[in-house]
This record gives sequence, C-alpha cells and structure tokens, in this order.
Amino acid sequence: MAAARRAPGVALLLAVLLPLVATPSRAATPARAASTAAFQLHGDVYPTGHYYVTMNIGNPAKPYFLDVDTGSDLTWLQCDAPCQSCNKVPHPLYRPAQNRLIPCADSLCTALHSGLGSNKKCPSPKQCDYQIKYTDSASSQGVLITDNFSLPLSKSSNIRPSLTFGCGYDQQVGKNGAVQAVTDGLLGLGRGSVSLLSQLKQQGVTKNVLGHCLSTNGGGFLFFGDDIVPTSRVTWVPMSRSTSGNYYSPGSGTLQFDRRSLGVKPMEVVFDSGSTYTYFTAQPYQAVVSAIKGGLSKSLKQVSDPELPLCWKGQKAFKSVFDVKKEFKPLSLSFANGKNAVMEIPPENYLVVTKNGNACLGILDGTAPKLSFNVIGDITMQDQMVIYDNEKAQIGWVRGPCTRSAKSILSSFP
Ligand SMILES: *[C@@H]1O[C@H](CO)[C@@H](O)[C@H](O)[C@H]1NC(C)=O
Repeated sequence: MAAARRAPGVALLLAVLLPLVATPSRAATPARAASTAAFQLHGDVYPTGHYYVTMNIGNPAKPYFLDVDTGSDLTWLQCDAPCQSCNKVPHPLYRPAQNRLIPCADSLCTALHSGLGSNKKCPSPKQCDYQIKYTDSASSQGVLITDNFSLPLSKSSNIRPSLTFGCGYDQQVGKNGAVQAVTDGLLGLGRGSVSLLSQLKQQGVTKNVLGHCLSTNGGGFLFFGDDIVPTSRVTWVPMSRSTSGNYYSPGSGTLQFDRRSLGVKPMEVVFDSGSTYTYFTAQPYQAVVSAIKGGLSKSLKQVSDPELPLCWKGQKAFKSVFDVKKEFKPLSLSFANGKNAVMEIPPENYLVVTKNGNACLGILDGTAPKLSFNVIGDITMQDQMVIYDNEKAQIGWVRGPCTRSAKSILSSFP
C-alpha cells in the first residue's frame, strides 16, 4: 500500500486504490528465455519501518533506494522536474531526461488512471499527469516517464529495459516537507498493468512472478521470475478477486490462538510488503488483544511506550523478540481457498522489541485508517519466502531463513 509503511509516530498513509478493470494481457512473444532477477533487501521492521532495494536507473545508471510495495502498482521516484515539494531523500533527486514523457493515450496511462479511480483527463495529451491520494489526505503528484532500469538478471547480464514509472514532483506527505526520507521512491509491484513486473512480463524479460524473503535480522532478498521458487513445501492459495480490489489476497481466513479458534468471522486478508505492521479490523483485533492478555504470565506488565499502542515490560529490558517469545502463544490463519493452507504467526511475527526494551504488539487496529480488510504486513511475513505468482494466480509461502544473498542466488544459475 503506497506509503503505508509506518514509522512509529508517523500517521498511517494508505493509497486509495480502486479495483482495476481486468486488463487482458497484451500477448507478447518473449524475445528470449525469461530470466530471474534478484535484489538484496535493506532495512527492517523496527526501527527503520521499511524494506527497500537499490535500483539503478537512467543513462548512465544512478542508484536509488525504492520501498518494496506489493500493495500498489506505480513505481515512482521523488523527482527534479523541477520538484515543487520533495522530502530530503538519500540520493540526489532523479532528473528526467528530455523526451521521456509517456503520452496520455498510452495504455499504461489509462490503466494508471482507472486504478487510481481518478476520472480526471490529462490536461495535455502530450503527457500523463497523475495524483495518488492517501487516506489521510497526503498525496503525490507527478507525470509518467520512461527510462532504462539496470536489472541484475540470471540469464542475460546486461539487460537494461526501458520501463514506465512516475516522476513525483509534488509530495504532500503529512507534514513531512523537511523530513529525511529513508527511500528515494517506491517500487510498485501490485497486480495492475503499470506494475513493474507486468511491464517486464510484457517485454518478455521475466515471468510475472515475484517473491520476497524479509529477514528478522534486517535485510533479505527480493526476486522476479520463478526459477528459485521451491518445488515442494510451499503452501499455495489461489488469489482471490473480491472486495480487496487490486491487492494480493489469499481470500478469507479464520484466526486461531494457541491452535484454538478465536470464534472470529472469516476475515478477508491482503498481503502488503508496503505495510510495516499488520492491521486487523475491529473484531479480530479485539479478539487477539484479549486472547494475548489472557495468556500472559504475571512476569509481564502492561506499560506505555511511545513507539506502539500496546506494550509490556519484563523484569529486565528485552534485547530481542527471542528473549520474550516463550511468554507468548502462536497465532495462525487458515485459508478456506487452500487445502490445509495455514499461515503460522509465531510471536516473532507479531511482536516488536522497542529501544526501550519493551515487547509491543505489531498487530494494529485497522479502524483508525478505516481499513475494511485485514493487512498482513512485513512483521508477519518475516523469515518466510512469500511468493506472488500472477502466472498461476496463486500466493504461496514457505518458512526458512532469509539470509541468502541476491548475488549467491543469481550465481546459482548456469
Ligand atoms: C534503453 O531502453 C531502450 C528501449 O528498450 C533500448 O533501445 C536502449 O538500448 C536502452 N539503453 C541502454 C543504454 O541500454
């Protein structure tokens, strides 16, 4: 979800993304055998609140940090077009080359506009203006452009496809004007046709399959293509196309605490790497909070911590989630769409230890950001490979450490 990653104390921002009208894939004959691309991830759930990649863009290519976001489609960079309102970003602002504007009539412009639910026509047919709005009235305004991306690919090392993305020249992100941003922009990997992966598929570069492995120690890897997807042990669930619109959803799940049902109605779930924490709607949120509180030993006391809404302290300050894990019981979600499809949520996938040494719940109440569905964020997807397979319309996950380097993944191919 664009900009939904939540640094503690920063207002939650959610992209208002309406369902895209199903876009028939423009049949492309792959020019070459599809490859796999792999990227090293940086960042963590806490304290960074972001997982991001370095993407090399332009001629000559320059590096930019992009937030990995499977909850929105458009990739965009804060951009010197010139910039009217940009955050302080880690690299010099991206400067678009001449004659790189995508015209309004381009099908990606149409797809972007309908995906954003905006019926505003382009002010000029020569360019594709857009505005992405967020639920707390923050926004990013920009124009679609194209430039070469350098992709670390397994089979052909020098590919530099030209891809369409946003040059964001006016960001109104809360009261963030002068704030230092962790990233230069966003890597939009949603299901829509403007998504970077849809474009790579369209050009015959990779299959429309992506996955990420977010390490609890920080870092991890992201990949495009299906070469490294394990052939066994993966739990697969068909993608659901219901009210959650263009998000990746395994459909509705039922919630268990310590292997027992919490008696909550089946809850619609989406997977969103752009959300740091997990968000539950009112009923499952309340049920989880009471179950956790009811299961705690006397050695833990509820305490107020500025970092997150619900926290506990122990006799001594905790250093990591693994110091306190045994005091908490596991959650799990069972999906009706899959055969015995269960996502285990052990304490390390729902707790954060803050710099104050307290253990805090990383499942937040989705009522405030007005969420009508449940969001599985980074915290809950850590230490498993999560696979979004748009070729077979299925979502999968398999537990395992996320310590492999992107380099070793790429060099494992002949
Ligand atoms: C940039 O992309 C275009 C279109 O795919 C391609 O023709 C061109 O060779 C690429 N430029 C470089 C420097 O690779």
